[in-house]
Amino acid sequence: MDIAPKFRPFIVAIDGPAGSGKTTTAKALARDLGFIYVDTGAMYRAVALYAQRRGVSVDDREEVCGLLPDIDIRLERMDGEQHTLLNSENVEEFIRTQEMSRAASDISAIPCVREAMVELQRRAARGAMGAVLEGRDIGTVVFPDSPCKIFLVADASTRAQRRKLQLEEKGMDADFATILREIEERDRNDAAREHSPLRKAKDAIEVETTNTSIDEQVSMILGLVEKRIDQFQKGQTG
Ligand code: DC
Repeated sequence: MDIAPKFRPFIVAIDGPAGSGKTTTAKALARDLGFIYVDTGAMYRAVALYAQRRGVSVDDREEVCGLLPDIDIRLERMDGEQHTLLNSENVEEFIRTQEMSRAASDISAIPCVREAMVELQRRAARGAMGAVLEGRDIGTVVFPDSPCKIFLVADASTRAQRRKLQLEEKGMDADFATILREIEERDRNDAAREHSPLRKAKDAIEVETTNTSIDEQVSMILGLVEKRIDQFQKGQTG
């Protein structure tokens, strides 16, 4: 989809809780629209991994803030997939564990971490024709002026079932009851924190995905986004 130069980068903000289908949706949108894809959760996961490797507890906020100057995070496309580079090391396989999900949720509540990641996320979109960003605060904090915000919701057990399948596909252990408990804890953690909690932006379109297949979800949202881009460019150009 072509975006007139004066509207670039066109930002599509996809927010929602864990397992709501953000990743599949955001990747498909980016591919079909020819936009870049930015997985902002991967950045928090990389910070959490770095802290763990350095033996710094996520509860020690001051120490965590002190680590930030030593952390370089880059998201790069390799073989058609996005990979997370932490100080030039591809850490994709280490950041996707349940342990890192929990640690990323905890570390993302620390204001200095959020400030650094938000800056990185804004920079990642610079220079692109368009960008699809997925996270928790894209529509509320990172790009509050985005003309296209989607907020995905689904009930917790549906999300836990999806996460179980994803983990199994990667050959990881996956017990449904444990995943469900962790998803519920993470929901509480992400929505209750003081800084940039997970919440729907006033102008976001809420899409309930409990009873839709991922293919239906993606094609419905793609239709919504294309319409929005078209309306926005026409409205703005007059
Ligand atoms: O999307 P994810 O599951 O990979 O995100 C991991 C954690 O990172 C999530 O529990 C909360 C945090 N996060 C955040 O606070 N803000 C974002 N924009 C993205 C993720």
